[in-house]
Amino acid sequence: MQPVLVVDFGAQYAQLIARRVREARVYSEIVPSSMPVAEMLAKNPAAIILSGGPSSVYEPGAPQVDAALFEAGTPVFGICYGFQAMALALGGKVAKTGLREFGGTPLAVTTPGTLFDGLPAELSVWMSHGDSVSEAPSGFTVTATSDGAPVAAFENVARGFAGVQYHPEVMHSAHGQTVLEHFLYDIAGIAPEWTSANVIEEQVARIREQVGDKQVLCALSGGVDSAVAAALVHKAVGDQLTCVFVDHGLLRAGEAEQVENDYVAATGIKLRVFNAQDQFLGALAGVTDPEEKRKIIGREFIRCFEQAARELAAEGVEFLVQGTLYPDVVESGGGTGTANIKSHHNVGGLPDDLKFALVEPLRTLFKDEVRTIGLELGLPPEMIWRHPFPGPGLAIRIIGAVDQERLDILRAADLIARQELTNAGLDRDVWQFPVVLLADVRSVGVQGDGRTYGHPVVLRPVSSEDAMTADWSRLPYDLIARISTRITNEVSEVNRVTLDVTSKPPGTIEWE
Ligand code: XMP
Repeated sequence: MQPVLVVDFGAQYAQLIARRVREARVYSEIVPSSMPVAEMLAKNPAAIILSGGPSSVYEPGAPQVDAALFEAGTPVFGICYGFQAMALALGGKVAKTGLREFGGTPLAVTTPGTLFDGLPAELSVWMSHGDSVSEAPSGFTVTATSDGAPVAAFENVARGFAGVQYHPEVMHSAHGQTVLEHFLYDIAGIAPEWTSANVIEEQVARIREQVGDKQVLCALSGGVDSAVAAALVHKAVGDQLTCVFVDHGLLRAGEAEQVENDYVAATGIKLRVFNAQDQFLGALAGVTDPEEKRKIIGREFIRCFEQAARELAAEGVEFLVQGTLYPDVVESGGGTGTANIKSHHNVGGLPDDLKFALVEPLRTLFKDEVRTIGLELGLPPEMIWRHPFPGPGLAIRIIGAVDQERLDILRAADLIARQELTNAGLDRDVWQFPVVLLADVRSVGVQGDGRTYGHPVVLRPVSSEDAMTADWSRLPYDLIARISTRITNEVSEVNRVTLDVTSKPPGTIEWE
């Protein structure tokens, strides 16, 4: 499928633009502004979008747009910095007006043209600029203006060019998506054909081509990425895929069964389960330091997986599935081209003599797209909508040493919290909802006629965009009350439920 290339001028908005284009059901890819125009054109783009960026077009070393880009007959849309760079490259003028605009700004649409067709004459849009286009290139119609930007939008429909000074991709810009769609559909003439069905079909073909008749291995974690990646590979090459699931005994109630039963039933995937609970519990015995716990779990996991991988490599497995997502690819500076075979990748610490080529069927996708595809592939919705869960599992939610009894207590309390959150219909309002067992703390309580001396648990519901920062979720009090009552009634070792009201920073999401 021909991509719309989003040229990244160093703005945090490039990914957002790419997502908005995809929401318009048009495939998009991000490329760095340092990429030569010839290389961009070699990707046979359906259109090119020049993103915003932090520079001033007049700064020495500011990224410029090569005028050759406009000679190829490819439609181009400029946003903010990209709009100014485009104006300059085509012979317009950009001035330091001294009129800076940041945040919500009224935009007057002077001529609707194609971009603003059917939209109100006044729009509130999100601006972030110091310089302004003072003169549009010849042949362009100026379609909007603002107090700080005399030329706030222009278009030359015959040549397939348009641009706006503001950020249509942010939700604060009224009708931003419509403006983008007017460019994509009505100026660039692209049809909205990038649907999940097409994505699946394309990935399946690609996997088949890469893998041929060879054997493939995938480690399932219980999380959504590995589950969807494996399901795609299975759809492509069926029983050439073997999945490995290391059950370390640190998952929440029902999660191992979800992988072993529901997932297998939904996909028909060939699964090898390694029951390693005893091995993990043995290695963790008496350990209280969080980093020590992580190290031990990481080490034991690698041991198990290595053993499985060796067995399978001996049986001729040559490929390893990874659930790498598009944001990781963009952030590590990688493209989406054919460089997805790294024969020597030290995956999760696999030793060098275990050489697998990587199959990464999600490397062009954002997380929400992975979910949509997972649902389309018929995977269990609970798995698709699962909150992020740390690799070391419940071991880092037991404050103190980890043993079977403590795991059982925490599992029971955690299940109640999850059930009640789901019943309240609030799963999607919460990023994660750890329940933490203060296993080395006891507090006095009274239940029935008797004094108890039990453990407290901590409820840690958080809201977040990316886990880098977070705030505690303001869950309804009656929901918290229900969770508290049920936990203290149903989990006999717990006699106190507390709520963590710390943001991140200063607190982390997990307690360890
Ligand atoms: P913190 O606790 O640092 O967590 O705010 C941020 C996000 O990362 C998850 N997390 C982990 N994930 N291995 C993982 O795979 C780990 O050791 C680990 N520690 C924390 C945490 O659940 C949250 O989503």
